[in-house]
Amino acid sequence: MDDADVNVVVRAATAGDAGAVLALWRKAAEGVSVTDDLDGVGRLIARDPQALLLAERQGELVGTVIAGFDGWRCHLYRLAVLPARRRQGVAAALLAAAERRFAQLGGRRADAMVLTGNALAHRAWRAGGYRPQEEWQRWVKPLPRQLPR
Ligand SMILES: CC(C)(COP(=O)(O)OP(=O)(O)OC[C@H]1O[C@@H](n2cnc3c(N)ncnc32)[C@H](O)[C@@H]1OP(=O)(O)O)[C@@H](O)C(=O)NCCC(=O)NCCS
Repeated sequence: MDDADVNVVVRAATAGDAGAVLALWRKAAEGVSVTDDLDGVGRLIARDPQALLLAERQGELVGTVIAGFDGWRCHLYRLAVLPARRRQGVAAALLAAAERRFAQLGGRRADAMVLTGNALAHRAWRAGGYRPQEEWQRWVKPLPRQLPR
């Protein structure tokens, strides 16, 4: 996957990328969450080796997105670009690659979790054609690390 306009190469992450991805998220992502560790990233790559997409420019990791497809819907997480590499089309290239993946898999709609107060993200998602669904809320429950009996 190559986006010549911004000279960014987008590729799927491998297990060896997990440490660099976590380091990028510490610098660039909007927050850390329950899955932000080597085990969490490793599970993602093992479960779906094409889901974690990396943007590289001249070998430097500059951005990420997770493009997950569960057979039903398409979910985007961790759209993040290094602060020094923003407004250069990196997020747009990542979203284009994610949507190509979804199209190949037969996905019909993509969604993203976006913080209500993250105005910067709102601009990028809107530019990509995404719109909020104000009538929905996410309902969550933390799961135990051990299997329930
Ligand atoms: C949001 C983020 C991923 C955007 O990455 P980016 O590579 O700078 O975005 P792009 O350069 O591809 O921008 C695509 C379009 O989004 C809009 N946009 C992006 N950043 C913008 C900004 N700071 N101000 C106004 N519009 C902006 C523009 O329309 C832009 O197109 P243009 O540059 O041709 O005008 C990046 O700012 C980031 O990592 N933020 C912190 C993490 C985060 O909040 N991620 C979103 C999680 S939901």
